[in-house]
Amino acid sequence: MKILVARSVEEWNRHAADIVQEAMQGAAEPVLGLATGNTPLGMYKELVRRHSAEGLDFSTTRTFNLDEYLGIAVEHPGSYHTYMKEQLFDHVNIDLSRTHLPKPNPESPEDEAARFSQLLEQYGPCDLQVLGIGTNGHIGFNEPGTSFSAKTAVVELAESTIQANAPVFGTDPESMPTHAITMGIAEIMTARKILLLANGASKADIMKLALQGPVTEDVPASVLQRHPNVVVLCDEAAASHLSKA
Ligand code: GLP
Repeated sequence: MKILVARSVEEWNRHAADIVQEAMQGAAEPVLGLATGNTPLGMYKELVRRHSAEGLDFSTTRTFNLDEYLGIAVEHPGSYHTYMKEQLFDHVNIDLSRTHLPKPNPESPEDEAARFSQLLEQYGPCDLQVLGIGTNGHIGFNEPGTSFSAKTAVVELAESTIQANAPVFGTDPESMPTHAITMGIAEIMTARKILLLANGASKADIMKLALQGPVTEDVPASVLQRHPNVVVLCDEAAASHLSKA
């Protein structure tokens, strides 16, 4: 596992975008696993900049997002569909038919999870999977206690996740979805390379536990210690509890 600690926001964004760009340029039809949340915002901004300023080409790239809420419309401002459109898809030359997210309002959530899993099997594995981390160690929406052998599934969000993500859904906490569809840990682990992103002091404890503590299903991100090709990109605050060795 390689751990990079960026000294500035610009350096962090550059490193993150470099790793994504390298994966895109390393395959004729690259497959990217993408994450949402606050952490990757600067990475997407830099990728969009490279597309407009340097012609970074997305036309043959296929993407799979890690997760999506259930029980909201695709166009809901808090949906990950909206996030991806606003942060990346609307600004680059990606073919939308090659972008895959679980649907937030399917007739049968279980069937939708199975459809997504099948697509991943058909087009995967991802050349690069980008991951954020929840303060409880979740990756995607795989909350503590999720089996390492899990595939894409309908999941219930942890109370701490609901609280952390509620601001996106406005002032009414009742409007925050309680369930989601998430790519499973077993599928995340099939990626050829994984880029784990973390920023800020609120992630320092969980980064220490996930990367340097025991590998346990109680800390979903700890499974990454078993992956042969992981790059971790932190700012100084998120890395502040990690031991050097
Ligand atoms: C969210 C998402 C994850 C994300 C994580 C961290 O709930 N489902 O995919 O990586 O939590 O979010 P943030 O980057 O906003 O801290």
